[in-house]
Order: sequence, then structure tokens, then C-alpha cells
Amino acid sequence: MKILVINGPNINMLGIREPGIYGKESFADLLHCLEVSAKEAGVELEQFQSNHEGAIVDKIQAAYGSVDGIVINPAAYTHTSVAILDALKAVSIPAVEVHISDVDAREAFRQISYTGLYCEKTIKGHGFAGYREAILYLKEKYRK
Ligand code: DQA
Repeated sequence: MKILVINGPNINMLGIREPGIYGKESFADLLHCLEVSAKEAGVELEQFQSNHEGAIVDKIQAAYGSVDGIVINPAAYTHTSVAILDALKAVSIPAVEVHISDVDAREAFRQISYTGLYCEKTIKGHGFAGYREAILYLKEKYRK
């Protein structure tokens, strides 16, 4: 089973950006956690991070036919991107949305999720552990 993990804009700034909200661990630390979780779940994992909406759309389209599950933290695009929502619908690959912070406890605009309209499940406020939960959920449900 192959899982694609997509992180959107500014996730590469983890450890530097707003540590009170996102923690002190870096993006490299997150990538390490993803590798550990993939091993635990026994899945092949590809990771992709981009600050550009179109690049994320391209990556989702390219996943068609080659990826069994998507874990996506669209970051700020969560709250604005119909294009990413439409790309997820187009490829129809099972997907879980992850947010490091508890978006429900933050500004009102963060409580709108376009991508969440497609995703089977949204995990919020569990820090890096949310990605692990998402990987294990997809593995359990769609085990291949
Ligand atoms: C985020 C929450 C978003 O509102 C924000 O724009 C991000 C990160 C999270 O992981 O908590 O960049 O997706």
C-alpha cells in the first residue's frame, strides 16, 4: 500500500513559525516521524511539501492510479482552495485531512475547510501524532 503525505504552505517552517501554536519541532522532525509511522504501518510513503496551490493540484493529479491513500495538511489552502478540493474529487483516492493545531479553537476563518468536504476524516490538534493516526487509519481501512 502506498500513501502520499502532502503538506501545504509554511509547513516547511515548522520549528520557526509560531512555536506556541505549532511546537518547536522542525519540518525535518516531522519527516522523520512520518518515516517511523510508515514503517509501523507497513506502508510505502511518499512525502510532498509545497507552498504553491497549483503544485499541490499537480501532485494530487499525478497520484491517480499510483497511490492508495492521501494524508493531507493543506495548511492555509484548507480554508480557501476549491482547486485542491476538486483535485481530490477528481482522483477519488481515499484521503484524511490533518491539522497540527486545533483549528476549531482558533480564528473563525480556520473553521471553514473546503478540502474537508472530500476527506473521510479530519484530525485536528494532535500535533505530529495526527499524521500517524491518519496513516494507521488508511492502512486499517484500505489494507493492501
Ligand atoms: C494548519 C492550520 C491552518 O489554519 C494554518 O493555515 C496552517 C497549519 C495546522 O496544521 O494546524 O498553516 O493546517
